[in-house]
Amino acid sequence: MYHQQLDTFPQNFLWGAASAAYQIEGAYNEDGKGPSIWDVYAHTAGNTFKNTTGDVAVDHYHRMAEDVALMAKQGLKAYRFSVSWSRVIPDGEGEVNQAGLDFYHKLIQELKQNHIEPVLTLYHWDLPQALQDKYQGWESRETISAFLKYCTVLFDVFKDDVKYWITFNEQNVFTALGYRWEQHPPKINDLKRMFAANHIINLANAQVINLFHEMVPSGQIGPSFGYCPIYPRTADPNDVLAANSADDFINNWWLDIYCRGHYPKFLLKQLQRMDLAPDITTEDDLLLKSAKPDFLGVNYYHGGTIQQNRIEKPVTDDRQKDFNATDPYLMQPKDEQAQNPEVPMYNQVDNPYLKQTEWGWDIDPVGFRITLRELTEKYGLPMFITENGLGAQDQLVDGQVNDDYRIDYLKQHILAMQEAITDGADIIGYCAWSFTDLLSWLNGYKKRYGFVYIDRDDDGPKTLTRIPKASYYWYQQVIATNGAHLSE
Ligand code: BG6
Repeated sequence: MYHQQLDTFPQNFLWGAASAAYQIEGAYNEDGKGPSIWDVYAHTAGNTFKNTTGDVAVDHYHRMAEDVALMAKQGLKAYRFSVSWSRVIPDGEGEVNQAGLDFYHKLIQELKQNHIEPVLTLYHWDLPQALQDKYQGWESRETISAFLKYCTVLFDVFKDDVKYWITFNEQNVFTALGYRWEQHPPKINDLKRMFAANHIINLANAQVINLFHEMVPSGQIGPSFGYCPIYPRTADPNDVLAANSADDFINNWWLDIYCRGHYPKFLLKQLQRMDLAPDITTEDDLLLKSAKPDFLGVNYYHGGTIQQNRIEKPVTDDRQKDFNATDPYLMQPKDEQAQNPEVPMYNQVDNPYLKQTEWGWDIDPVGFRITLRELTEKYGLPMFITENGLGAQDQLVDGQVNDDYRIDYLKQHILAMQEAITDGADIIGYCAWSFTDLLSWLNGYKKRYGFVYIDRDDDGPKTLTRIPKASYYWYQQVIATNGAHLSE
C-alpha cells in the first residue's frame, strides 16, 4: 500500500534501546549472585564461540551509572533490560539476595530520574543453575512455582516504578537452541523434550500474566516473540501451502498460545501423529485460555522463504538453506537428523530479492511492515518493538566508529514501522537492539549491535571504554524530532 504522506509517530512514543543481563552485566559471581545455566555452560570449553563468556561482559554492573548517563544524553525514552534471576534469588527459589535486588533498584531509580521508562524482562534465558540441577529446569512444573516466587518479589518491589514488563524473551529461540539444536544450555537434542518443556513455559507465561494482573493492575505485561514473516518462494499453490505450514511451525505455535490460548490445529495434529506433541491437561487448557497479554513484544530481524517440502519437490538447485548454527530464527534440519517435522511440511530456501548481513541474515525492512500488519490482523494487540538491529564487525578508526550501514538499516526499518503505523498498527515503542555492544550468545563479542562501542573483544575485556558511534548521534536526532529526522 502506498501512502502519499505518512502519519507522524504518536506523541509519547517510546524510543528506546535494549539489552539482556547475561550479555552486559558481568560480575557473574559478585555480591551474592548464584550461577545461572549460562555461567556454567559458558565455563565449559567448546560450548561457546571462542569460549567467550559473560563473566565480565561489558561490565555494566559496575558502570551502570555511566551507561544510563549515556542513554540520557542520547535522549532515550525507554530502556529494556532483563533481570538476572540468580542475582535476585541465587538458588532460584530460596532466599532473596538483597544486594542483587538493590542493583536493579538503583538502575530503575537512575532511569526514572533521567525520564527513561524502564521496560523489564523477567526472563532472558539465564535460568538459575540450581533449578536446572534440582528439577531439570523447564522440564519440570516445579520450575513454574520458583518462577512465580521470583516474579512476585519483583512485582512487589517494582510495581510502582515499572509500567512495562516482558515475561519470556523469544521462547521460540531459547527452547529450540537449548532442547533441539544443542547451541544453548541445557544442550539437548530431543524434540519431544523440547515441546514438553515449551509447554511448561507456556503455563509459566500464562500464570505469571494472571499473577501480574492481580498484583500490578496499573502495569502492562506481554511476552517478546522473535517473529519471522513467511514468504512462499513462488505462486505455485504447493509453495503457498508449505508456507502456511511453516508459519504454524515457526510463529503460530507460540503466538496462538499467547494470544488465543490454544495451539494451531493442523500442527498439533501433525505433532501428535509423530508422537512429539506435549501432554495437555484440561487444567492447562483453561489456564492458557485465561491469560491475556496486554501487548505483544516483537523482536524482528528477518523472515523466511519457503517452498514445497523436500519429499514431494526434491531440491534441484542451490537455493536450499543449509544448517546454519548462527541464525537462531530459521535453523534448517540436516537430512540425517532423526526427528525433523519440517521435512514433510516445507523446505527453507534463499530469497533472491534480499541482501544479507555478514552473518547471512536477510535484510528486509518491508518484512518488518508485513510483520506488524500480520500481527495486527491475527491478534489485534498493541505491539512494543522490543528488538531490531544490525549485527556487524564495527571498526574503531581514529577513536570513532562510522557505522553508516547501521544507520541505513535502522532508518529503513523505522520508516517501515512508520508505514505500518500509517496502515493502522498500534505500536507503543521501539527498542533498538542494542544500547551498548554486548555478548552475542552464538558469536562472541565480534558481532556488534550497539549505539555505543565497547572497547573489548573475544580475547578479553580491554579498557571497556564507552565510545558513542555515529548511529548514536543519528538516533539522538530521530528521538529529538519524534521521528521527523528520518525523512529529512
Ligand atoms: C535475539 C536475542 O535472539 O537476538 C538477543 O533476544 C540476541 O539476546 C539478538 O543477542 C541477536 O542475536 P545474535 O545471535 O546476533 O547475537
